[in-house]
Amino acid sequence: MASPVVLGIESSCDETGAGIVSGSRLLGHVVASSMDEHARFGGVVPEIAARAHVQALAPVVREALERAGLRLGDIDAVAVTTGPGLSGALQVGLAGAKALAYAAGVPLYGVHHLAGHVAADTLEHGPLPDPCVVLIVSGGHTSLLFVRDLARDPVLHLGDTVDDAAGECFDKVARVFGLPYPGGPAIDRAARDGDRRAVAFPRPLTRPGDDPYAFSFSGLKTAAARWAERHRLRGEELPLADGAASLQEAVADVLTRKALAACAAYGARTLVVVGGVAANARVRALAEERCAAAGVALRVPSPALCTDNGAMIAAVGDLLVRAGAEPAPLDMSVDPSAPLEYAALHPVALVP
Ligand code: KG4
Ligand code: ZN
Repeated sequence: MASPVVLGIESSCDETGAGIVSGSRLLGHVVASSMDEHARFGGVVPEIAARAHVQALAPVVREALERAGLRLGDIDAVAVTTGPGLSGALQVGLAGAKALAYAAGVPLYGVHHLAGHVAADTLEHGPLPDPCVVLIVSGGHTSLLFVRDLARDPVLHLGDTVDDAAGECFDKVARVFGLPYPGGPAIDRAARDGDRRAVAFPRPLTRPGDDPYAFSFSGLKTAAARWAERHRLRGEELPLADGAASLQEAVADVLTRKALAACAAYGARTLVVVGGVAANARVRALAEERCAAAGVALRVPSPALCTDNGAMIAAVGDLLVRAGAEPAPLDMSVDPSAPLEYAALHPVALVP
């Protein structure tokens, strides 16, 4: 029997994504972003994001179907992000997904956004080894997860950021440095000609006795802002490349150090790095270096699948459907601060 075809919808932040996956294969996906509309505010404005999803959802789904060479009638299930994320933004995606599932007469699955980031990697590199450690680093999250069977087992949340996410730190410091939003790519570019040892920025929560898997980036952000301020007060030009390279080094060092400590402690031979910050050149290079030294295999999806998209939600839906998970009721609602326990955000009875 042919594998079921799953449509995935993502709308938790500023990206409206639709993707189609069947039997772990990505058939097509489309992402529309309202990032430009938020740029002048220096961050995502929830109401603007929700309105942009209303505009983008139907065209994005239509185009994803076109790219896959399919019609709505060919879809066997719809999966949608129901949390965590911006409440209004999530509600637009869920309402659209319910309408599509109802119209097509197919089951609906509510998916945890972070499980989607994890599953994105399977679309390029095949099934995840059991177990593996996953580092999710984006503008909204910085989490270390211990993952077994994504469709069946609970995900162990090893640690999180206690304040800012890593991408948020890049975005906010970039603003102080006078770089454009989003700041991560701008810092990455500026760092190319810099000396990463030029400024000794702190490595938060890496002292003995600190939580080994928790992150904190707000102190680092303040340290970078102070450093910039000191130069300005002295009337000096900001050594931007050195500042960017040193900041990037501090972030990459802490992220990879903690991720590899988790691999060692939990006996995982594979580290998966996902999320927008996984696109950072230094994060990638240092992860490769340290994984090679520790004999750990490193998996990083290509940038288009690292950032928010609908394909990753379809990938979770595909795993759930094939595991025989029970679909969600049509009165399912969003959960903007959903903790990650299972990949499905509604209770599922699995076929044993
Ligand atoms: O995963 P993502 O697209 O959206 C969510 O936040 O869920 O991640 C966006 C974040 C932003 O903070 C952006 O500055 C950061 O990822 N980012 C980068 C790079 N590309 C994107 N940070 C560092 N270096 C990059 N090359
Ligand atoms: Zn995300």
